[in-house]
Amino acid sequence: MSVQETEKEVILTHPENKSTAVKILKYGATVYSWTLNGDEQLWLSTAAHMDGSKPVRGGIPLVFPVFGKNETDELLSKLPQHGLARNSTWEFLGQTKSNPPTVQFGLNEKIANAELTKLWSEKFNLILTIELGADFLKTAISIENSATSKDLKFNWLFHTYLRIPDIEDTMVSNLVGMKVHDKLLHEAFIDKHPVIQFHQETDVVYEKVTEERVVQVVRQGHPLHTVKRENLPDVVVWNPWTEKSGGMADFEPKSGFKEMVCVEPGYVTDFVTLQPGKTWNASQILSKDKLKYQAIQ
Ligand code: BG6
Repeated sequence: MSVQETEKEVILTHPENKSTAVKILKYGATVYSWTLNGDEQLWLSTAAHMDGSKPVRGGIPLVFPVFGKNETDELLSKLPQHGLARNSTWEFLGQTKSNPPTVQFGLNEKIANAELTKLWSEKFNLILTIELGADFLKTAISIENSATSKDLKFNWLFHTYLRIPDIEDTMVSNLVGMKVHDKLLHEAFIDKHPVIQFHQETDVVYEKVTEERVVQVVRQGHPLHTVKRENLPDVVVWNPWTEKSGGMADFEPKSGFKEMVCVEPGYVTDFVTLQPGKTWNASQILSKDKLKYQAIQ
């Protein structure tokens, strides 16, 4: 059977290769493991809360309706950092395709975390579709404004923790020439570096990156991960390094920052504004691909 459901999670196994699988916790609809031919592709903290008491530290947490901690928006500023999707239990809607195995999860204001919908009482209908290919993992989100007369204003982001052998010899490529907002320096500039390298805490948002730009995580000339995006113009790159990870109780082992880099496709520089009854769609596709260098256009 390629789809197994338990009380807490759903596991998809590829019908042609049992060592290719994806595990999704109903809490947050969080993908917390993706193995490709037996190799884990995602980083998950050994201290991650898997019991629904806190968002999962690792895997692919979902960020909605606000990225980061908003201080200015009348409604969204009431929500905690990264919103309410990662701390709500989603409904498993079932399997929609047998090969590649594909499943859906749903979330709306009626079943979302009640403590948080009290703070942000908008009407929405989210459907997350997860497709496990033989050589890719696609996560697609569909967001419907289910209100009858009010616009829905939101950010969306896949907060993807990619597993790597060693951050110090890892690079993120194909973002050269893009406008980047450095959240630590509080500055925006055009990034002229041919690749991103990591020697300290990094928390940057590349803005309005065209879909043709395929972001790759590269180690010693070999691509480890390829991240493709549909309708997600922004790319956040994050590594907490020593001090920040040291301060996070659910980040273990403390040396774990060496084995992860977050590449997070999102719609976060601007808000999506959706009219009543309308639907917005976006997706992330993770794979292993050939090395691709895309110069400044
Ligand atoms: C990233 C943000 O997306 O998420 C960082 O850019 C933030 O600023 C990080 O620190 C982790 O956030 P959290 O809420 O999961 O600790």
